[in-house]
Amino acid sequence: MKIFIDSANTEEVKKYIMWGLCQGVTTNPSICLKCGVKGGMEGIKKRTIEIARLINPLPVSAEVTSDDMEEVMAQAREYSRWAENIAIKITITDRQGNSLLPAIYKLTKEGISINVTTMLTFNQAILAARALKSGRERAFQKPKYSFISIFAGRISEEYGANHAFEVIKNVRDWLDFHKYEEIEIIVGSVRSQENVELWSRSGAHILTIPPEVLGKCLASARTKETVEQFIGDAKKAMEELGGGAQ
Ligand code: E4P
Repeated sequence: MKIFIDSANTEEVKKYIMWGLCQGVTTNPSICLKCGVKGGMEGIKKRTIEIARLINPLPVSAEVTSDDMEEVMAQAREYSRWAENIAIKITITDRQGNSLLPAIYKLTKEGISINVTTMLTFNQAILAARALKSGRERAFQKPKYSFISIFAGRISEEYGANHAFEVIKNVRDWLDFHKYEEIEIIVGSVRSQENVELWSRSGAHILTIPPEVLGKCLASARTKETVEQFIGDAKKAMEELGGGAQ
């Protein structure tokens, strides 16, 4: 399983690269806002390119700012020129629930990497996977990435974390059974360490984790206590050997 950083904060991304815990980055308009990205579309472009360079050749996902089919396609084509390692996030439907799969299929046929986002059900995920696979089969040059993003935290808010686990697991089983090797599940909207622990075992290819949650995953009072004990005993052992602690 890979870990992506769910953030547009370059300092946090840098930090987790250093920890060996960043195999990609996901952003969206709300994340950009929260991370203080200013200057509208130009600001989003600048920050996305910055992150793309930082993690190259790993993927960064950037989301279109519209749910109008024509605008979605125009923006996706434009974003895809910003850097080679950008996957364009497109919501599975528009605000009225109309399908955006025609754009997803067409752009994939054009060789553009798409991350189909805001999915909360098994059916949405397998239909997105099918559209991506159809697009890839007809693409002259295959996209580098094809992602399907399941918003497990939002599923949990309605049906509980175990139901979210079942949805992810069933989608993974379905992808494996039908040999959709080139489509990867990203589990998003991760809210806690407990979510990380549960959904890491669901079969997700990728968990995208906000920095504040990832940071807490190392926390354990007993680990701190144990390190304290080891350092103390190491000092004593060194003193007994007459070498002094390092
Ligand atoms: C994933 O790619 C999304 O950016 C993110 O996880 C959405 O989470 P939210 O439910 O916190 O908005």
